[in-house]
Amino acid sequence: ISLKPFNTFGLAKNARFFTSVHSEKDLIEALIWAKNKGLEVFILGGGSNILLTQDLNSLVIKIEIDGIEKVKEDSEFVWIKAGAGVIWHDFVMNCIENNWAGVENLSLIPGTVGASPMQNIGAYGIEIKDVFESLIALNRATLELHEFDAAACQFGYRESVFKNYLKGQFIITSVTFKLRKKPVFNLEYGAIKETLAQNQIQEPSLKSVSDAVIQIRQSKLPDPKEIGNAGSFFKNPTVPTEDWMALKKDYPTIPGYEVEAGIKIPAAWLIEQCGWKGQRFGEIGVHKNQPLVLVNFGNGDGNEIKKLAERIQTSVSEKFGIALSPEVNFI
Ligand code: EPU
Repeated sequence: ISLKPFNTFGLAKNARFFTSVHSEKDLIEALIWAKNKGLEVFILGGGSNILLTQDLNSLVIKIEIDGIEKVKEDSEFVWIKAGAGVIWHDFVMNCIENNWAGVENLSLIPGTVGASPMQNIGAYGIEIKDVFESLIALNRATLELHEFDAAACQFGYRESVFKNYLKGQFIITSVTFKLRKKPVFNLEYGAIKETLAQNQIQEPSLKSVSDAVIQIRQSKLPDPKEIGNAGSFFKNPTVPTEDWMALKKDYPTIPGYEVEAGIKIPAAWLIEQCGWKGQRFGEIGVHKNQPLVLVNFGNGDGNEIKKLAERIQTSVSEKFGIALSPEVNFI
């Protein structure tokens, strides 16, 4: 079957076999079926962070494990467990309706709850590690369920143990979040402050902050329903402070944010400086408002996008001596 509807880049690659699973039991059955057929398995969430470059000669399992439930509460916090298949933005909206605080800055991020810890999704000053309690994941080899706390997940910037040491070994089936009953807003991000002011919000609420985030994202990021994309294609690189100071001499406007390991530079700026912003090459290109996002205008091919990404990496490396690493997973 065609995977075009199942990846936000809208790439028309095929899967030899495809199934959706709605429970951990379904998932185990599907894995056993594949094993008996000697088939490889590919796990699909929202398909919002993958670049398909070839047909998959495997069983594609789409995780549709549903459900959002309160598992515990005290005077300050609620613990909310969500199935891996819940659409991330639906989860955020549900939290806002119930007055559970902590994920409002993460409104409108594409993808599913189950994929969110994989790369520790983040935006506007919040990462999922900040509200994470634990997750349940199925060991693909033993078919046993394991619980991981935050430490076991080894979260980093767009990183977790599931992308590194345990890559390909576990399938996340549910995630439990620890949310606040009284919001502690994170409004440090310039664009949020500006948008709240524009909207004449004096006292922020979960809803008004979420609305501001949605407004910002819609103004900058292409809607995958209209133009295929997978959000940021690259990670923002961190360079040693000395290197940044040296770059600043040649490029006085270079932006940078202090982080533990040095200075984090917006990849969008580097890519724009290399002249890529808004460039279109047939069916693919670099988005006009946010050059960190590569796009498929309709009939693009994953390999063309991969080649474009490599050309961007080469030009950034030649001009600035900085290696960009992809955030998107190449399949
Ligand atoms: N910039 C430019 N030109 C542009 C756009 C941006 O030079 O056309 C520079 C500016 O210096 C701007 C800076 O990039 O101040 C930051 O831009 P933006 O606020 O759009 O954020 P970003 O660093 O490019 C990251 C995340 C996004 C997240 C936003 C907001 C990564 C790889 N990306 O982008 O996450 O929404 O911050 O917090 O960290 C995603 O991961 O898919 C994603 C969209």
